[in-house]
Amino acid sequence: MNLSMTMKAEPSPVRLLAGQRALVTSANFGIGAAIAEGLAAAGARVVVNYERGPEEAQYLVRKIKDEGGEAIAIQADASQEHQVQTLFRQMRESYGGIDILVNNTQLEKKAALTDMTFQDWDQVLRVNLTAQFLCAREAAREFIRQGVMAEVSRSAGKILCLSSVHDVIPWPGHASFAASRGGVMMLMRTLAQELAPHKIRVNSISPGAIKTPGNAGIRASPEKEAELLQLIPYGRLGTPPDIARAAVWLLSDEADYVTGVTLYIDGGMTLCPCF
Ligand code: BGC
Repeated sequence: MNLSMTMKAEPSPVRLLAGQRALVTSANFGIGAAIAEGLAAAGARVVVNYERGPEEAQYLVRKIKDEGGEAIAIQADASQEHQVQTLFRQMRESYGGIDILVNNTQLEKKAALTDMTFQDWDQVLRVNLTAQFLCAREAAREFIRQGVMAEVSRSAGKILCLSSVHDVIPWPGHASFAASRGGVMMLMRTLAQELAPHKIRVNSISPGAIKTPGNAGIRASPEKEAELLQLIPYGRLGTPPDIARAAVWLLSDEADYVTGVTLYIDGGMTLCPCF
């Protein structure tokens, strides 16, 4: 008996980003890794950027390839101008250009204001804000040079800035982090306005508490986790795939008329009066 005649045909997956080339900074773990995987599953060729942790980056590249996608890993510190320029040159040499930038670098350094060192403040601002400027500038230059390639996308390029609910919620003990994320919001909104005439879309995703290696300590303690859950009306922590699914949509032509917005993916945390 011909089995294929009796089995229901699987619907073919919609490849929203087919033919596109994406760079995800700091993509070797957590939210960045999930986004890189999601973009690859949607048909994009992905550069997995990492600063430290080549093993994790290579593991992710292998995983993407095993799942039928395309990816390469490129090392660079996205907060350093020359390294960013080299990263974009290497991406151009490998993939011929770029259609999608996901600005994902993130650093938290907890300290009361009176104990905060200048070095820590400066590093958080460089990783969380300056890196986003440096990568956005290189990406925009390429997008404008390439223009709209109608067979690839309706826009000339997309930039997605990963931020945080702390772009609107103040966070005692994290002045540097909150200030950098507030900065990302105005960077994103200003670039969205400035680049729209070039058919470049710029948006942000601001995650709440997401299960990542960064909060493994909190999740290991039932009391601390319960305290955190008090702040999340939806009653659970988010997962990296929660963010990745939204990123794929925002970066696809399905969201072609969406620019300059921040999508809060936080289980309602920004609604919580008790934060
Ligand atoms: C931070 C997490 C924090 C969450 C809610 C995120 O931006 O990265 O560490 O749990 O905001 O406060």
